[in-house]
Amino acid sequence: MQQTSKFAYVVAGVAAMGGLLFGFDTGVISGALLFIRQEFALSALQQEIVVSAVLIGAMLGAFFSGQVTDRFGRKKVVLITALVFAFGTIWAAMAQNMIGLAYGRLVLGMAIGVASFCVPLYISEISPPAMRGALVSLNQLMITIGILVSYFVDDACARLGLGWRVMFLCGVVPAIALFVGMLFLPETPRWLMSKSRDAEAMNVLKKLLPSDEAAAEAAMIRQTMGEAENQGTLRDLLAPWLRPALIIGVGIMLIQQATGINTVIYYAPTIFQMAGFTSEISAITATVSVGIINVLFTIVSIRLIDRLGRKPLLSFGLLGMSASLVVLGGAFFFETQLGGLLKWIAIGSMLAYIACFAISLGPIAWLLISEIYPTTIRGKAMSVATLSNWGFNFVVAMTFLSITETLGKPGAFWLYALVGVAGWVFCRRYVPETRGVTLEAIEHNLKTGVPAKDLGKV
Ligand code: BGC
Repeated sequence: MQQTSKFAYVVAGVAAMGGLLFGFDTGVISGALLFIRQEFALSALQQEIVVSAVLIGAMLGAFFSGQVTDRFGRKKVVLITALVFAFGTIWAAMAQNMIGLAYGRLVLGMAIGVASFCVPLYISEISPPAMRGALVSLNQLMITIGILVSYFVDDACARLGLGWRVMFLCGVVPAIALFVGMLFLPETPRWLMSKSRDAEAMNVLKKLLPSDEAAAEAAMIRQTMGEAENQGTLRDLLAPWLRPALIIGVGIMLIQQATGINTVIYYAPTIFQMAGFTSEISAITATVSVGIINVLFTIVSIRLIDRLGRKPLLSFGLLGMSASLVVLGGAFFFETQLGGLLKWIAIGSMLAYIACFAISLGPIAWLLISEIYPTTIRGKAMSVATLSNWGFNFVVAMTFLSITETLGKPGAFWLYALVGVAGWVFCRRYVPETRGVTLEAIEHNLKTGVPAKDLGKV
C-alpha cells in the first residue's frame, strides 16, 4: 500500500472513533436499563424518557453542527465533541435520579448528533477520491462495533455485579482516544481552502496524495468551492428540482427508523426478558449475539454494495426484515402455546431481522444521502437528512413501550413489519440505483427533471 493511502486509512480510522462512540453510547443503555429501572423504580414512560433524552440531544447536535463545522473547522469541532462525550458520560454515570440521568444523556446526545454529521463529513473531505466509498462506510462499521462493544461491556458488568454506572463510564475510554488521536490529525484541505489557507491545505493534500494528484485535487476543490459560493444557499435547498432528492433522503431515513431497528438496539434485553430469558445476565448475553450479527452483516454489505448495487440489497433486506418481524410478532401471539420454544423463536427472528437490516438499510441509508445531493448543497441537505434520522428515531424510541402496552407485543412488531412493506414499495418506486454513477450525472438528471427512480441512469 502506498504511504499516502496508509495515511488516509489512519486518519479515517481515528476519526471513525466518533462512529464507535455513537454506537457505544446509543447501545449501552440497553443493558443498563435493566438495572436503572430497578434502582430508580421507573415506569414505561420514564424509561422511554431516559432512552430518548440522547435522541433529543442528537437532534440539537445535528441541527447546529452544519453551522459550527463551517465556522470553526471540522477538526476543532470533533475535538470539542470528544470532550463533550467524556463530560456527558461522567454526568450520566453520577446521576442520583432519573432527571439527572436524562440531562446527562441529553448532553451525551448532543455529542452523538454532532459526531453523526461531522465524522462522515471529515472523512469524506479528507479521503482521496478513489477510496472515499470504503472510508465513509468505515463509519457505519464503527457504529456497529461500538454497539457490540457496549453489549460486551454491559455483559461483563452484569456478570461482575459492577452495575450500570460502570457500564456508562467505560465510554470515557474511546472519548479520550478520539481526543488524543484527533490532536495529531490535520484539518481538512477543503475547509482550509474555504478560509483561504491554501498553503496549509496543500501540505495536507501532499500527505494524502502523490504530488501531481495533490495539485489536481486542489484545483478541483477550488472550482467546486467557487460554484458552492454561487449556489449553496438555504433557498436552493427548497428549489423544486432538488425536491426528489430531499424526499428520497428523508424517506430513506424514515424507513430506516420506523421499521423499528432501535427498538432492537436499545431494548433487545427487555424484549428477550419478555420472551423468557428471565435473568438480566441471560437477556444481555442473548443481546451480544445481536451485536455480533450486526457487525458481521455490515461487513458483508460493504463487500456487496458496489458489486450488486444498492437496490437489490434494499429490496432483499426490507422484505427479510418484515418477514422476521411477522414471525417475532407471531411468536408472542402464540406465547402460551409455544411455552419454552418462544425464546428460541424470538432470538432466531431477531437475529434474522438484524442481519437483513445490516446488509441493507444500515449502511445504505447513510451512503445514499452522501451520493444523491449535488456537491454545492451536500452539507445542508445531509444535515436535513441526519436531523430527520434522529427525529424519527426519537418518535420510535419514545413510543415503543407504550405501543407494546396498547397494541400488545404482536401488534407492535406487526406494525413495524407493515412499515417495512411500505418502505419496500417506496424504494422500488422512488429510490435510484446509484452504483457506479458519477455525482455529476445525478446532478444533471435532477436538474433536467428526470423521475426520482431514474436519477442514477446515464
Ligand atoms: C442507524 C442507527 C442504528 C444503527 C444500528 C445506524 O445506521 O442510523 O439508528 O442504531 O445503524 O447498527
